[in-house]
Amino acid sequence: MYLITGATGNVGGPLARQLHDEGYPVRALVRDPSRAVGLPAGIELAIGDLNSPESVSKAVRGVEAIFLMQTGAGIEQTMTMIAAARDAAVPRIVLLSSIGARLQPLAENPMGAALAAREQVLRESGLGVTYLRPSSLASNAFWWRDAIRAGRVADPTSGRLHSVIAPEDIARVAVAALTDDAHTGKGYILTGPQTLTSREQVETIAEVTGHSIDFEDITPHEFAQAAIQRGTPPEQAHMMEALYEWFRANRSGFTTDDVENITGTAPATFRAWCEHHADAFR
Ligand SMILES: NC(=O)c1ccc[n+]([C@@H]2O[C@H](COP(=O)([O-])OP(=O)(O)OC[C@H]3O[C@@H](n4cnc5c(N)ncnc54)[C@H](OP(=O)(O)O)[C@@H]3O)[C@@H](O)[C@H]2O)c1
Repeated sequence: MYLITGATGNVGGPLARQLHDEGYPVRALVRDPSRAVGLPAGIELAIGDLNSPESVSKAVRGVEAIFLMQTGAGIEQTMTMIAAARDAAVPRIVLLSSIGARLQPLAENPMGAALAAREQVLRESGLGVTYLRPSSLASNAFWWRDAIRAGRVADPTSGRLHSVIAPEDIARVAVAALTDDAHTGKGYILTGPQTLTSREQVETIAEVTGHSIDFEDITPHEFAQAAIQRGTPPEQAHMMEALYEWFRANRSGFTTDDVENITGTAPATFRAWCEHHADAFR
């Protein structure tokens, strides 16, 4: 049995489906079962919350490996999962981390520092851990959905490059890492097959969906101020501001071969991901 957290999300959803389709028994930790209706019927649901140690302890019983996708800025959810995994003698955790956990200087990148702190407590836990460190998710394009429908995307990355990866490809790597302990103790930087600017991503979405979309360059500070006005908590908006400054320093404009090395199949292009999800933008 494999426990999947975030199974209603961009990465955990495809992961739960891929494991199930390959015949592995899957248990999904979900907060609200009504959000899990899209999952195949054969997937077992464990109702719980990463902020509730009791529910996590119940969910990990009898599992062979855990896919851990965390929310929030701190290490609390990681510590909860470590304690539960130890108590239930679960040998392995596959962590959805981020490329940002490994790129210096972490002190100037609060989001990266938070991600690195989560990796560190897992390294110190004595559990067998695989660290999946993806670059920008193609599904971040869903954040532009309203802007795309309104015909104008404002972006603070100043023409810098992203090696956008399809969540489905992260899921394929996670299947390998969960089901084969040869990946234990390893860390992978997961990227798509190409580097693209945000403008190129928006142009691709426009071509695939037929929308006419203008593109506007804004600064990270302008982005953060607009987010705060829309109701984003200031701490989160300032983290995003720092993240966009880091993108503008072009720190993530490279690709790796880890997806293909691990799964035997090259990762999808951003265009292919858009074609698959085109209806979500219409
Ligand atoms: N965005 C990027 O470019 C990027 C890059 C690298 C790494 N990452 C990492 O990727 C992860 C996001 O993955 P994603 O896009 O698949 O996430 P997502 O689509 O936003 O989904 C979040 C999932 O977490 C669940 N969840 C939220 N709070 C929870 C809680 N307290 N207890 C249990 N489950 C909870 C949600 O369930 P509900 O249905 O209950 O809401 C949902 O299934 C983050 O950890 C991030 O650090 C992202």
